[in-house]
Amino acid sequence: MAVNLKGKSFLTLLDFTPLEIRYLLDLSKDLKSKKRAGIHGRLLDGKNIVLLFDKTSTRTRCAFEVAALDEGAHVTFLSNSQMGKKESIEDTAKVLGRFYDGMEFRGYEQETVELLAKHSGIPVWNGLTDGDHPTQVLADLLTIEEHISKPLNKVKMVFVGDARNNMGYALMYGCAKMGMKYMALAPKELWPDESMVEKCKLIGEATGASIELTDNVSDVKGADVIYTDIWVSMGEENKLEERVKLLTPYKVDMDMLKTTENDDVIFMHCLPSFHDFETKVAKETTENSNLDIREVTDEVFRSKHSVVFDEAENRMHTIKAVMVSTL
Ligand code: CP
Ligand code: NVA
Repeated sequence: MAVNLKGKSFLTLLDFTPLEIRYLLDLSKDLKSKKRAGIHGRLLDGKNIVLLFDKTSTRTRCAFEVAALDEGAHVTFLSNSQMGKKESIEDTAKVLGRFYDGMEFRGYEQETVELLAKHSGIPVWNGLTDGDHPTQVLADLLTIEEHISKPLNKVKMVFVGDARNNMGYALMYGCAKMGMKYMALAPKELWPDESMVEKCKLIGEATGASIELTDNVSDVKGADVIYTDIWVSMGEENKLEERVKLLTPYKVDMDMLKTTENDDVIFMHCLPSFHDFETKVAKETTENSNLDIREVTDEVFRSKHSVVFDEAENRMHTIKAVMVSTL
């Protein structure tokens, strides 16, 4: 069956079939080879794209901008719009839909990106909300395929840390869709919502995926991927102390990688990461509160297991595939 995503928004991987995700991954691979060969395409020739950011970003913003420009589109970056302040989401969506061919949104509620898609009449791409980060997971799946020789449906992915954050949910959705073994390793307080776990298990009945939750580090045995994220996501800064207390036993270190009993295990992270004290936040948190917020040791981050910068690069190729296929 031919895949046609023209006009479709990219709000969550739950809206996509395994075949459509496969298509996006294959297209990403093609676009990556083309870029590596120095071929500039015109697949988005004359298109106008707006990037709405209510939260900070390095990778997502740059990935959208470079991907769009590579294929001939024009980009507006908007981080101080009237939306939600003096103008409703609906009205903003209707205005932007008159100007642009496609829209990216990064912000807080998932409902905002859904309203933008509902009222703008153009494809809307979710560049991160409190509940999801689908473009990141597309890049993660591509990176796994590049580094692990087995097919995705044989891969065991362990997400360690705040399994209730956008990355925890987004990875669970992606793994469920692609028939993978997904395990959330976290203290019970940070396990994902039961109804979403049930939903993913149901998807798994059709795709062959398994979804497991554990608070026992020894369950990483057999993992192909150890994935973590910062302990305190954007907008949750007041939870810092509580999170450090809960998640310190789950800091990713060499002992955890050894517990997988897999010499080829890869370490993944969406970035940005606290792995040393070279950031203002990590330094000040230690100096002012005597809290160590590093979710991974520098040793693991810089080890041969770590594929984090390949993963970051793949944001651009996969976001390009999303724009090219939906516009
Ligand atoms: N991984 C990711 O979304 O990075 P940014 O916050 O820098 O966009
Ligand atoms: N969970 C993180 C992801 C950053 C890409 C956050 O929302 O801050």
